[in-house]
Amino acid sequence: MLSAKIQEVLNGQIEVEASSSQFYLAMASWAEANGLNGVANFLYAHSDEERQHMLKLVKFINERGGKAVVPQLAKPPEDFESIQTIFQSLYDHEVKVTAEINSVVDLCLQEKDYTTHNFMQWYVAEQIEEEALAADLLDKLKLIGGDNGGLYLFDRDLETMQTSE
Ligand code: FEO
Repeated sequence: MLSAKIQEVLNGQIEVEASSSQFYLAMASWAEANGLNGVANFLYAHSDEERQHMLKLVKFINERGGKAVVPQLAKPPEDFESIQTIFQSLYDHEVKVTAEINSVVDLCLQEKDYTTHNFMQWYVAEQIEEEALAADLLDKLKLIGGDNGGLYLFDRDLETMQTSE
């Protein structure tokens, strides 16, 4: 059985993952509308993954005798300045998500909820991959700078790139 405190932070994490999914969906749509189909594919897949991260939490809370709450979400941006700003935002966002996950893990230890602590380790591992991938893509974009040929190849590479999970 989940304590009220743990249930509250896990429901908070549902909102974080759902908002991430919406944010990346908005980025994907912008990229698609701007002719960057590889980037769009990558971001659509990333958005789907975040939805899976959210679902995993919903099911865990309910399985543990708690009550998962499907949250209302803020509207994500409609427009983005550039592909560079998209990947900078994505990286910054993942760093924030990692901090949120760490605080959930921290509370699990304080509350001696080792079952939820164990469950959250999947998210801890996932964040390592997500941050590394986002940092790598951001580095590539920094190298490319304003070179359209480089951007074309970057977009083409992302067409087939796997997101983390
Ligand atoms: Fe579910 Fe990208 O964190």
